[in-house]
Order: sequence, then C-alpha cells, then structure tokens
Amino acid sequence: MANVNAGILGTGRAYPEGVLTNADLEQMVDTSDEWITSRTGIKQRHKAAEGEYTSMFAVRAARQAIERAKIDPLEIDLLICATVTPDQVLPSTGCIIQTELGAHKAAAFDLAAACSGFLFGLTLANTMIKTGQARYALVIGAELLTRYVDYTDRSTCVIFGDGAGAAVLGPVEGERGILATRIRSDGRYTEQLFAPGGGTRMGLTPESFAAGAHFYKMRGNELFKVAVRSMADVAREVLEETGYKADDVKLFIPHQANQRITDAVANNLKVDSQIVYSNIAMHGNTSSASIPIALDECVEMGRVHDGDLVLLASFGGGVTWGAVLMRW
Ligand code: UT7
Repeated sequence: MANVNAGILGTGRAYPEGVLTNADLEQMVDTSDEWITSRTGIKQRHKAAEGEYTSMFAVRAARQAIERAKIDPLEIDLLICATVTPDQVLPSTGCIIQTELGAHKAAAFDLAAACSGFLFGLTLANTMIKTGQARYALVIGAELLTRYVDYTDRSTCVIFGDGAGAAVLGPVEGERGILATRIRSDGRYTEQLFAPGGGTRMGLTPESFAAGAHFYKMRGNELFKVAVRSMADVAREVLEETGYKADDVKLFIPHQANQRITDAVANNLKVDSQIVYSNIAMHGNTSSASIPIALDECVEMGRVHDGDLVLLASFGGGVTWGAVLMRW
C-alpha cells in the first residue's frame, strides 16, 4: 500500500431531539438572548433527555457514515470514539459502539482530547491507513456535555450542547484525501477548562457532588485568545507544509466554539468569509462532535465538491489543538 492517501468515504450525524433555546436559558439564569447571540452566536443547543447516553447518538451517526461509505461494519479495522463524556468509565464507549455496530474486527477505543478529539482521531486513522495497518477506520466525535454543565453558571451553561458526528475513512486514489495533519497540546493551560471531580484524584462523594465538582469550569476569556492564536497558527502550518494558500481553500470548518472565535480565526487566516462554515447558532459548542457534525451538514447541503480543498481546525480543553487539510 505504497503512497496511499486516507480519505473520507462517508459521514453521519445525530443529536437528541431535546432543544434548549436562549429563551429557556433566560428562565434559568441571569442571561438574555441578546447577550448569548451577540457574544457567542448561539440561538439553541440540543440537550439529551434522562435515559439517553453518548453511545446512542454515536451509533446513529456511525451507521449513517458506514452506509454512505458503502462498507460492511466487519471491514472496519479501527474505531476511535473521541469523547470526554463517555457512557461509563469501563469499558470504553468505543467498545460499546463496536458491539452495537457489529464491527467486531475493529480495534476500538476512546480518545480524550476534548474539542480536538475528532482531528486527533483523523490523524491516527490517517497514519494507520497510510502505513497499511488499517484499511477502513471509523472516527466518531460524540458528547453529552449537558450532563457536566452547571445550570447556575451563566458563563458556561449557555455554550455547550449535545451531539455526535462520524466519518468513515479508507484508502483513496490520486491526489485526494488527507494531505497534512498537525495535532498539539499544552497542559500548562489545563485550568482554563476543566472538571476537577469524578476521577481518581477527587472521587465523587455526596459532598463533592453537591459542591458541583464534576461540572465544567471555564476561564472563557483567557481561553478565547489562546483558541484564536492556536487554531490560526496550526491551520497556517498545514497550508505551508503542502504549499497551498488560504485562497486555495474551498471550505473551512473550524471547531464551533464561539462565532466570534470563528470570525477571528477566519480573519487572521485571511480566508473569504463565504467559505467558512458555521452551525453554532443551532448546536452550540458540542466539543469533539462539532467538526464531524458540520462536515456532514456540508456534505448534505452540497457545500463540498470532488476535488475541493477542505481545511479543518480545532481547539479545546487540555489545551489541545490541531488542523487537517484534505482534498475531497
Ligand atoms: O470549545 C473550546 C473551548 N472553549 C472556548 O474556546 C470558549 C472560549 N470563550 C468564549 O467563548 C467566551 O469567552 C464566553 C462566551 C465564554 C464569554 O464571553 P466573553 O465575551 O469572553 O465574556 P466575559 O467572560 O469577558 O464576561 C463579560 C461579562 C461579565 O460581566 P462583567 O464582569 O463585565 O459585569 C460576565 O459576568 O459578561 C458576563 N456574562 C454574561 N452575561 C449574560 C458571562 N456570561 C454571561 C451570560 N449572560 N450568559
């Protein structure tokens, strides 16, 4: 399998039916539709009901991606579920999804890189396909973030939503597929977005649960600046490596963290606003699911065509960031 590229053969997405609008949030915390819309671009986000869990949406998104890729689940060699909100601690949500799909020949596992998880997963899948260790890979980003949201904290509860997106990758011919990837992290910024409780360091006791130790804490303002700088830098790196310019890109999908972050990154990269995709108004920030959901929407809407140069960039807690450049 010399010089083979890995390309996306099929995509899918799923989210809970439940929706939390800005008007709903106005009833819950001291906020307003005007503030949320102008500061984030978000109008609504999906929210799972009691009894729903992460793998339910991951499986639905994955089934759609597999069907569109026209492969049999038994052909999948690698199954990565990027998530920071797994079904349970053990086994991995990847293994749960594998069983539901009947993808029994895949090596399945979870990948915790927060909002960059999907691009970290694409990077691993690309390497394994290029080196002949896998033929088909399923990469999923799936999150039920609303389970870790403190609905008394207006600085976080207006941002996050639930959902899942998936992509099947396989070998593609010619100059198509993934051309360059970059993934990075810097643990020195850990406390800008973190959930202290619920792990081995601070187990959930009735007291720590009551104190909300499992909820996400975010220093949004500090994160904002790092996010813009990191996403723009890493996107520039994959363009420079492949000799392309921002002008060559036909579709740019940044992680949907905040409309103002998307606008600032696009501005920094000097890409035409027409090629930047945004769905944050409808979904909020769904962490690792945001890019694959957006990609699937673009495929469905005909916003991506054969031969188009597609740029993806992400940033998330950890902190983690990355970019992927591919020819569709
Ligand atoms: O997914 C990847 C990781 N996450 C991110 O990258 C998120 C990055 N950060 C952000 O998206 C933004 O920082 C936020 C949307 C979280 C916050 O927006 P901001 O413009 O940075 O606001 P701020 O934190 O600087 O707060 C400005 C004011 C404060 O009031 P004072 O101190 O100026 O009186 C906040 O208390 O806005 C207030 N505020 C709100 N007001 C109404 C914060 N949240 C709300 C709210 N409604 N929901």
